[in-house]
Amino acid sequence: MSAPVAVWGESLELPCPVGGEGGGVAEASSSGVALSGSTLARIREMEAKYPSSRSAVLPALWAVQDELGYLPPWTIEVVAGELKLLPGDVEAVASFYSMYFNHKPGRHVVQVCRNVSCGLRGSDELLGHLQRALGLDAEGNTPDGAFTIEGTVECLGACGGAPMMQVDRYSYENLTPQTALEVLEKIRAEMPAGTGSK
Ligand code: FES
Repeated sequence: MSAPVAVWGESLELPCPVGGEGGGVAEASSSGVALSGSTLARIREMEAKYPSSRSAVLPALWAVQDELGYLPPWTIEVVAGELKLLPGDVEAVASFYSMYFNHKPGRHVVQVCRNVSCGLRGSDELLGHLQRALGLDAEGNTPDGAFTIEGTVECLGACGGAPMMQVDRYSYENLTPQTALEVLEKIRAEMPAGTGSK
């Protein structure tokens, strides 16, 4: 199964080419959005911590996602520059793992497992029910930005409770289409007003 996010394929327009003239590292997008000093410090701290900078890619991407909520294409260049790697090396990691986003997610990320155990116990029906109820034709963000629905994740390690879904960092098991929707409705009801999207 492929990762739920598309490949980082957009061309990058950076104010300062990585390793280019002047040897600077781009730390901001072409629209002027930049990573904070504390995030850059975290990335540099990770680079110093490991014998190989490749080992720092995962925590460096977490640092960026913690700040921005996702990984815009320009941040791939920034991380690569900071870790002295090729952008393709960083992109390969970012696009492989479903916990990294290349698009701005909704406030809550819902991952419906459709691997073997969950698939055999009705995850396709469950996913379809959620999508219809939330006004989605496919995976993606709900119109109000409350949820991102993903259905192409690999096994989430709770096969004994299949079918299951993960909402943010919490697992919900032994679901039916109805109980899955009830979980999301409860989460939505508990969201403070005006917090529909990150
Ligand atoms: S197959 Fe769904 S949790 Fe393992």
